[in-house]
Amino acid sequence: MAFLHIDHLNKRFGQQAVVHDFNMQVEAGKFVTFLGPSGCGKTTVLRMIAGFETPSGGNIRLAGDDITRQSPQKRGIGMVFQSYALFPNMNVADNIAFGLKMQKRSADEIRHKVGEVIALVELNGREKHFPHQLSGGQRQRVALARALVVEPRLLLLDEPLSALDARIRKNLREQIRDIQRRLGLTTVFVTHDQEEALTMSDRIFVMNQGKVEQEGAAETIYTQPATEFVARFMGNYNLLTAQQSHALLGMEISGHLAIRPESVQLLSHDDPTEGALPAVIRQHQLLGNVIRYQVEAHGAMLQVDRLNRNAADLLAGGTQVRLKIARDDLREVR
Ligand SMILES: Nc1ncnc2c1ncn2[C@@H]1O[C@H](COP(=O)(O)OP(=O)(O)OP(=O)(O)O)[C@@H](O)[C@H]1O
Ligand SMILES: [Mg+2]
Repeated sequence: MAFLHIDHLNKRFGQQAVVHDFNMQVEAGKFVTFLGPSGCGKTTVLRMIAGFETPSGGNIRLAGDDITRQSPQKRGIGMVFQSYALFPNMNVADNIAFGLKMQKRSADEIRHKVGEVIALVELNGREKHFPHQLSGGQRQRVALARALVVEPRLLLLDEPLSALDARIRKNLREQIRDIQRRLGLTTVFVTHDQEEALTMSDRIFVMNQGKVEQEGAAETIYTQPATEFVARFMGNYNLLTAQQSHALLGMEISGHLAIRPESVQLLSHDDPTEGALPAVIRQHQLLGNVIRYQVEAHGAMLQVDRLNRNAADLLAGGTQVRLKIARDDLREVR
């Protein structure tokens, strides 16, 4: 049986249904991610799991216990919020110790446990600093330590990295994942950043308008989007209409055809490869290691990515080319 089991969860604020028929199961020790646009209900679901928000319907089970109506203190769940939510008038050690003090643990035990988590999040030497004396990344590590120190059964992380700059973000996401693995701690992570979700997660739950749009391993979500929404949200998929799919590839489909920009091969105009389509380069965009071309074929505009190996290979606007689209990489989406 799954460690975290959410069944038909619903939440209304007045007339507005914010979460509806939300279902998920998470195995013990896994790191799973809610990925979705702003306002799709990610925080609301986390807050219901933590007990800060009461569901309008459905239930939540943790390790077999029905926790749907249990008070937050009894759930054994740690949460790190979108904003740091540290106590500004307490130093690092006191911020971290707060939960243990509430539990009336002995001074010795508190000192020992706080020391352990400070080492775990690499904040040694900062014990006496106040939040305003710390960088954003350090503050978020204090928040993480504060959630970990009470040894939660489940860890909830609500966009803990979104306020940080790119380099610190990357460091901290590796650190979080490393700590999570070492502790074997079941974790639900929230982000609206695709790259973050892909690099960190065992499983991804793509959310749209209060429900799970698609669930799967990171690789599956990226290469096999089930719906137009997931294809648009996950990357720079080309989405062809049924009409375009027919004109371009002779395919009869009912929804849209999703084609990844990196799965289209650019060939020279006289390349004899069978099934390659005549096309014209319209524009290009330098993304760093990749050059993204806008290529027109049969009136349809496609994005095609190519590794930026050599400046001499750059294809100028107006260049005639041929496109080879691997059939295996085509996805029909709803
Ligand atoms: N306490 C509340 N009262 C009324 N509406 C609320 C409340 N909390 C959230 N909402 C609404 O519920 C919807 C989902 O909000 P939620 O915070 O769960 O989204 P989110 O996916 O976390 O978005 P973001 O990525 O911006 O953090 C939004 O439309 C929001 O306005
Ligand atoms: Mg949120």
